[in-house]
Parts: sequence; structure tokens; C-alpha cells
Amino acid sequence: MVSSSFGLIWSSVLSLSNLLTSLLFLLVYYLVRFYQKQRTIYKNIPPGPKPWPVVGNFGNFFVPPSVRTKIAGQPNSTNAIEIEALRQQATVFGNIHSLFIGGQLIVVLHGFHLIRDALLNQPEVFSDRPDIPLVTILTKRKGIVFAPYGPVWRKQRKFCHTTLRSFGLGKLSLEPCIQRGLAGVKAELLRLNEERGSAGVDPATLIGNSVSNVICSLILGQCFHHHDVEFRTMIRLMEHGLKICINSPAVLINIFPLLYYLPFGVFKELRQVERDITAFLKRIIAKHRDTLDPDNPRDLTDMYLIEMLTQQAAGVEDSSFTDDYLFYVIGDLFIAGTDTTTNSILWFLLYMILHPDVQDKAQAEIDGVVGKHRVPSVTDKGSLPFTEATIMEVQRLHSVVPLAIPHMTSETTVFRGYTIPKGTVIFPNLWSVHRDPTLWEDADSFNPSRFLDNEGNLLRKEYFIPFGIGRRVCMGEQLAKMELFLTVTTLLQAFKFRHPEGNPPPTVKERFGLTMAPCPFSVCVTPRDQKLFNHEYAADALTPEFISSNKKKSLFAIKDAKLR
Ligand code: HEM
Repeated sequence: MVSSSFGLIWSSVLSLSNLLTSLLFLLVYYLVRFYQKQRTIYKNIPPGPKPWPVVGNFGNFFVPPSVRTKIAGQPNSTNAIEIEALRQQATVFGNIHSLFIGGQLIVVLHGFHLIRDALLNQPEVFSDRPDIPLVTILTKRKGIVFAPYGPVWRKQRKFCHTTLRSFGLGKLSLEPCIQRGLAGVKAELLRLNEERGSAGVDPATLIGNSVSNVICSLILGQCFHHHDVEFRTMIRLMEHGLKICINSPAVLINIFPLLYYLPFGVFKELRQVERDITAFLKRIIAKHRDTLDPDNPRDLTDMYLIEMLTQQAAGVEDSSFTDDYLFYVIGDLFIAGTDTTTNSILWFLLYMILHPDVQDKAQAEIDGVVGKHRVPSVTDKGSLPFTEATIMEVQRLHSVVPLAIPHMTSETTVFRGYTIPKGTVIFPNLWSVHRDPTLWEDADSFNPSRFLDNEGNLLRKEYFIPFGIGRRVCMGEQLAKMELFLTVTTLLQAFKFRHPEGNPPPTVKERFGLTMAPCPFSVCVTPRDQKLFNHEYAADALTPEFISSNKKKSLFAIKDAKLR
């Protein structure tokens, strides 16, 4: 008995020591590999700080931003901590420098010329996307945004791009939906303003709903009412899922992917949100399939289903147009199109409060061209250069996607004398382009006139790149521009915006989440023409009659596009 217990203890000690030996062996192996790689593969990479084994230079990158801010405190400058850190690295190591996140090599490109040389002049090398564990688990690298560079991505992107253009560009088919949604935003803004009085209204939710509404109608064919239960649920799920992904310990899945399967906490919550979104979208896709009329597509989902049928009929083998892909494409467009556009509009409103003189000038221009009665249209764009210049200046000062979406090299290349190995993650720092003092006079100050010539005509500058450049340039650029323009002209036409009296002016500090957002702020609105307002916007805006009439217009536009 004694000898068997002794044997048991002895064998446990042995297996424990075996385990420790194995761990030690693995650690030594890892360190040898790490330093070997530093000396060989990474011999001629761009300069950067010496990385630590395991964590690299940015162990804190994996810590949720909220925790990071608590530890580091708010930065003194108005730039987000991440942007400030990269800016400082560039001053030490130059405009092309490297850093390691864990064992992953990252090369950061600062300034227009470097970014253009990589993304535009060597697109075959610099257009892939990295495999980020959390993103890969959630998207299976399907869809568009994080799909690997190659023929499948190209076909999916081309199809979606053409379809998006048929809804918006030139044919204005989405315009009535956006305009009607904005009538709802105006009515709601006024109601909330009256309710809150001098405290003012935080416009974030209202603008966010309006933007999501446009994406939903485009993809899912439904111009949802802001209070629609299904719509609200879907938005809440998406927001909640994103919040977990970027601002909770779920980011640790990027280092230890198995954490995703833990049966508790945010990990369990994330899987539940994923299941709920899947069920919601699958229900909508099934509804589309059941009611599909191939001669009368209603939205992007219908167009996609028709493409699937066409490819099946043509006997295309291994077609990537599948239910599965459609599901991820919808998710991508929703996520890529909502936060970006919402934050751009919020930054615009914030600058209107801070610069009443610019607000007055844009309003005078809108009054002169559109008047106070007609609803602004994208056809007014060319006649409102100052308003356009103001939108561009806000986008320049606050690049809402400051580091683009990470790129990855698909082969080893020599770039500006450095060797950049295959699989290196590339951060094109768009923020640095827009704040480059050699390109922009007084780059940190707000000055819409920099986008105008002496005659007041709009100046296009090749180094104004809020939507990125190259093969991976934003696919929703035209739609985003249309939404931005219609939203700001409609709101400026209707209201005077100011910050609540007695409050300090809002800060222009940036907050880095999924995209670069302003800190929460409130606005007070005053109708610029009370009589007109009472008459036009008293009724609830999104009536079913409008929605069905708008849908008819969309159908004609799609048919037109197919005929051309
Ligand atoms: C003001 C609003 C927007 C801004 C500033 C913006 C900016 C960007 C940027 C900088 C990129 C990354 C480019 C790169 O990786 O080099 C991007 C990618 C993308 N955007 Fe946007 N975007 C906006 C709105 C939208 C909208 C409304 C949609 C769709 C409905 C959209 C869909 C996409 C997609 C699908 C990609 C990935 C393209 C690819 O990987 O091939 N974006 N956007």
C-alpha cells in the first residue's frame, strides 16, 4: 500500500518534471527561433525598436483600449494614444519603420509618397489582408473586407461594387430613401431638443440609426423605421458584437484563439451574439429567396441570389457565389458602412458647433443654391463648393479609418531598400498623410478654404485619401459621399447648431474604437425657419406609403442599370 502510494507520488513528480522540462525545451526552442529569425529573415527590415520575445513591442496592443487608457491616462495631445505612439515612432525611426505585435512583423508607412508607392505602384504585393484570429473565426475570411487578395475576392468585390453603383451613383435611386430618413432625423432631433432643453442632444444614436437604415435598405431592401423592433435588435446585436470584439478581453483571442470556445464571460456572450446575428440574417435571406422575382430585384440580396442562379444555370464549377458568401458579404457591408459614415457626420456636426462662422457660410451657400424649401439633392453637389470643401476638411482632420484596414504582403519584396518578408502586416497611416505639414499649410488647423481656389472652385488633391488608395480602396466611397453630402446639407438647411450654453466647448480629442470617433458631445438645435418646420416635419416621417413608393423607384433604377 505504502509502496504503491510512493510510486504514485514518484510518478507524479516525474510527470511534473517531464512537463517542466518540455516547457523549458519549448521556451528555449522558441527563443532560439526568435533570435534566428531576427538575424536572418528580419535582417534588412525597416528600422524599429528592439522587440521582446512573445509580446514584441506592443504587448499592450492586445489590451482592450478602455483598460489601456486607464493605465496610460488620456494623452496630452488630441490624437488617440495609438496614433500618437506611431507618430512618435516615425520621428525616431523615419517614415517607414517596423514593430512587432507578438511575433508578427508590422511595417508602418507614413506619408503619401510611401503609401502610394506601395499600394498603387506594387499592388500585387501589398493588397493582401492579414489573418487576424478573431476576425478569421468570425468571418472565415469570406466576404470582402478581410478576404485574401485573389480571384474570389476580385469577383465578389466587382459584383458588389457594380451593384452598389446601380443603387446610388448617377441614378439617385437611393436618394429618396436617404431624404425621407433625414426628415425623420430632423423631426426626432427637434423633439429630443425640446425634451432636453438647454442640456442639448447627443446626436450619435440618431445619426447611427439613420446611416444603418440606408445600408439596411440597400442590402436588405427594407427602409426600417427607427423604432422597428427587428431593426433595433439587429443594430443592437451588431453594436454589442463589435464592442465585445474591440473593447473586452475577447481581444485576447488574437493571441490564444482557443479562448473563443470558453463557456463563460464575454467569450460565451460573443458566440451567442454571433448565433443571433446568423439567425437574423439567415431568416432575411430565406425570406428573399421565397419571394424572389428575378425580373424585379429589390436589393443587393436579390441581385446576389440572381447571380447565384445565373452561375448555376451556366454550370460554373466552384462558384464562390453561395449562401455562405452572401451572409458574410452582408455582414461586411453593414460593418464597413455604418461606423465610418456615422463618425464622419458626427465630426462634421462637432466642427459646426466649434466654428459658427463656417456654419453660417455653408448655410448661406445652401440657402442661395437650394433655398429653404426644396430638399437638397446630390445634383446640387457641384453648386455647393464651400459645403463640399468643409466636409473634405473635416474628413482630412479626422481620418475615421486612420490606419486603413491592415494590408499584408503576399510575397517578399524589396521596398525603398528594405526587405519586407511575405506575410508582413502593413499599416498605411492615412492619418499621417492628412496631417503632413509638407502637404498642408498649418496642417492641424481647421480651414475649409484649403480645398478651394481663388475663384471659390473646389480643388481636388491627390493626397486627400480618406477612403484609401489602390486595389483595396473603399468599396462604398460613392455611397458614403452621397450620404455625407445629403445629411449635412439637409441638417444645415434646417437647423442652427450650437453647443449647450454654459458648457465648455466640445473637445476634438479622438477615440479609437472600430473607427476614429469623437468623444460624446451634445448639440442644441434651433430651426432656421420655424414656420416651414411646423408645416413640413410635424408628421411622423417614415410612413409605409413613402417606403413603398421609394421601393418602386429603386426597382426602376436597378432595371435601368441592367439594361445599360
Ligand atoms: C465616410 C465613410 C467611409 C470611409 C471614410 C471609409 C474608408 C475606408 C477605408 C480607409 C478603407 C480601407 C482601404 C484599405 O484597406 O486600403 C475602406 C474599405 C472598405 N470600405 Fe469603406 N469607408 C466609408 C464608408 C463605407 C461604406 C458606406 C461602405 C459600404 C456600404 C464601405 C465599404 C467598404 C468595404 C467593403 C471595404 C473593403 C474593401 C476591400 O477590402 O476590398 N465603406 N473604407
